[in-house]
This record gives sequence, C-alpha cells and structure tokens, in this order.
Amino acid sequence: MVKTFDLVIFGGTGDLSRKKLLPALIAGVVAGRVSPDSRIYLTSRSAADETVAGWLTKVFAETAPACHVSDDNFATFASMVRFVQLNLGEGGDDWKALAADINKQDDRPLVHFLAVPPSLFTSVCDQLGANGLNGERARVVLEKPLGHDYDSAEAINADVARHFAEGQTFRIDHYLGKEAVQNLLALRFSNILFERLWSNRTIDHIQITAAENIGVEGRAGFYEGTGAIRDMVQNHLLQLLCLVAMEPPARLDADSIRDEKLKVLKSLEPLEGDAIDRNVVRAQYGEGAVNGKAVPGYAADLGLKDKSQTETFIALRTHIQNWRWAGVPFYLRTGKRLPARFAEIVIQFKDVPHSPNAAWGASINPNRFIIRLQPEDHLALRVMMKNHDSSSDELKEVELRLDDVGAKGPMRMGPYLRLILDAARGDQSLFVHRAEVAHAWRWVDRIIAHWQAKPATLKTYSAGTWGPYEAHDLMSRDGRTWYHDGSAE
Ligand code: BG6
Repeated sequence: MVKTFDLVIFGGTGDLSRKKLLPALIAGVVAGRVSPDSRIYLTSRSAADETVAGWLTKVFAETAPACHVSDDNFATFASMVRFVQLNLGEGGDDWKALAADINKQDDRPLVHFLAVPPSLFTSVCDQLGANGLNGERARVVLEKPLGHDYDSAEAINADVARHFAEGQTFRIDHYLGKEAVQNLLALRFSNILFERLWSNRTIDHIQITAAENIGVEGRAGFYEGTGAIRDMVQNHLLQLLCLVAMEPPARLDADSIRDEKLKVLKSLEPLEGDAIDRNVVRAQYGEGAVNGKAVPGYAADLGLKDKSQTETFIALRTHIQNWRWAGVPFYLRTGKRLPARFAEIVIQFKDVPHSPNAAWGASINPNRFIIRLQPEDHLALRVMMKNHDSSSDELKEVELRLDDVGAKGPMRMGPYLRLILDAARGDQSLFVHRAEVAHAWRWVDRIIAHWQAKPATLKTYSAGTWGPYEAHDLMSRDGRTWYHDGSAE
C-alpha cells in the first residue's frame, strides 16, 4: 500500500476540498494510511491571510472529520499542508516555483486533484504539462461532472490526453469508493448463490435511489443550469447501475471491470421522444418543510429572479437490452430536499410461481435484496418465514441482515480517502474510463435535448416530500412501489 505521496489540490480552499478531501486525508493520517512525509498543496487564487493551522481549525470545526483527531495528529497534518497562490489560467513564476518545490522530491507518486469547475481542466493540465508536472509518476484526478454534455466532455478528455496518458487519468466518481459498493462486487463475484439468480429469470425489477434532504447548499453557481441529471444521474446512478448489471469480469483489474461496465452503458435502451415523457419524470422543489423546518423553494433558495428550468429531482425507468436483463425495468431516482438522506439499491425478485399452501397465498411477499449505501451501510435479504407467533400457517417477512459490512472507527476509509490512495498507487479499477463518460453523456444528452424543447415537462414537488406525484405514478403504473429503508413508501 502506498502511503507516501504528494497531492496538489487545485481548488484547495474550495467546497469539495474543505468538506470532503481534507477530512478524508486527516482521517488517513490518524489511521496510519497516509504517511506524515506526504505533502499536500492547496492552491487558491488569492494569497492566504492566515496560517495553515488556523485555517484548518476553522475548516474542521465546520466539517468534523470522521475520526477523533488528537492535538498531535492535528499538528502533524497541519505540517503536511501548504498554501499555494496560483493563477490557474496563466503560467508564470507561481507555477515554476510550485514545480520546483514539488520536484525536490521526485521519488514518490504525485497526484493532482482537480477540484475546480471542468471549464478549468484544460488550462490546469496545460500548465502541468508546461511545467513538467506530468511525468510518469504523476496522475491527474478529474472530479465529476466531466463537462456538461458529450461534446464538452470529449473536448476536455482530448485536452487532458495531450498531457496525461489514459493510464494517468483518474476520473473520479466517489460513489464507486463507497464501502457497500465494494461489497456488492465481492458479493456478486465471490458467491455462487447470488450470481445464479442475477437475471431476468428471477429478478422482477431493480431500483436505485440516492435521496438527499439538503438543498443546493452554497453551490448555486454550479447547480443552476446543471441539475440532477448531470449532477447525479450521468455519473453516480449510471455507475451503480453498471455495477449491478455488468457481467462477471474475467479479472478484477481496471480494464476488465471497465470493459464490462461499458458494455452495460452500450446496452442501455436509448430513450427518445415520447418514450422520455413516459419514462422520465423531472421536477424542482417548491417551498415546504424538511425535518419540521420550513424551507423556501429552489428559486427563492438560490435568490433567482427568473424562473428556473433546473430540475432538482429525477425519476426514470429504463431497460438494459441484452440477454440477461431483457424485460427487467431499472428505476433510478434522485432528488434534493427529500424527507431523508439515504442511498439504496433494491433488487426485487419475482413472485414464487406457485404457492403450495392456499393459506399462504395472499401473504407471500417477493424476496428483496437490499444494498444500503448510506447513511449506514449494510446488505439485507428479505425472505419469507413461518410466523412462530401464530398458531396458523401464517408467514412473515424477515430480514437477514449483514451489518458491519465495512470497517468501523479510524480504519474505516471514506470514499475519497480510498480513491485518493488508489490514485496514488495507480489503480484505476474504481475510476471511470473515457469511453464510459462518453456513453453516459450520449444517453443523458438525448433526454436533456428533449426537455429543452418541452419546458412543460418540469414538475414541482414540495420540499420534504418524496418528489412529485408522477414519480409514484411511474411505479404504480407497473404495479410496483418505491422502497425506502426496506419498506414500501
Ligand atoms: C455530488 C453531487 O457528486 O454528490 C452533490 O455533486 C451531491 O450534489 C453529492 O450532494 C452526494 O454525495 P453523497 O456521498 O453525500 O451521497
């Protein structure tokens, strides 16, 4: 395991760095996964007007790291971090000084994490190339969304490729670093039990939900015009769908996994025209209450003067057109300002073909396998058992639950730590290939183009509810229902 590396976070004082990367890195130091010899450079446009330690104290007060940090650990971490003032768009002495400092130590992996808007990816990579920071030991991590459509993503990928080989390019999707997602792969490909059942012969449908109760939280500039389909579906939800649906790879190396995921994306039923109206629901939250607290609607939340066409919720039904999955609907949904934060994949199996006991007939629920990603992670299988409390032949549904599927305490790796360490050691298995990004964009671009031509497709839901009526209708038309924490909504 590589523990010593240098990391340059472009956008080092920004939202992602403060909320996710720095808490992940200090947790890595506490757990002994990141060596104190590593150096962390935080770039920003303006000069720092305080010490690293003072600034980090404030950052961690707002976003408590997921582990106990002693004074010693904090001091160690602060000594690893340095501020760098840098104009990302232009080369110059600042860049040269950064390169000279980094290259004083050229015997370790060098990870550039681009936590900046995709419009800056090209100029940052140009400067990394011009200043010799793209050598063999260097890797570039690109935060999603990569571009805002197929063309822009391809242009960025081509620009990055002028300086970094594909093997050095790490397109991050932090959902792939979540513990339960790793477990899904382990479970599918190291147990005969599940794989035999994993197809249209036995599975009725699959639903994937990533629900959030927060709103846009200070990211208005990014979110307005981006919306849920670009922010969550093009990447996180489609990646989860790929992992659930892909064929068993011959090996668990990066190319084998990514080839299988790509085949799934290529097999996605292309949604077009009226099929989009029938299968995709998009909506924006209006005012309402979340956890008993009144909240304004999206436009007021963001202080927008004009009406916005940006969706904060999307629910859709699609199919994978191959032998394994023909006829099995995949339902995907995500939204902001919903009643709770949770992410879950539900695999619902078919009804039993025949009930041998008439008394059971009415009460046999289909089996469900649940992969819970957050807030806690677990795997659960819901099966029917005899109800011991009843003198008759009644059945009841029980849950076989695998809790603690991931390590707890300081040894637990959050997704960003896991993925940064993978990038440092050059393992791309949990990163997204250029071709996957391209196919995912092609698929969502058609939906977005349709919406642009039909603004009336945007519905409204009250903040604090599970989305608009149409999202429930999407399920109930098929005689199905959304699940939340194992129960029907
Ligand atoms: C990010 C999105 O990629 O994922 C955010 O840009 C979203 O809008 C976040 O809030 C959700 O991540 P998680 O891990 O909290 O589910």
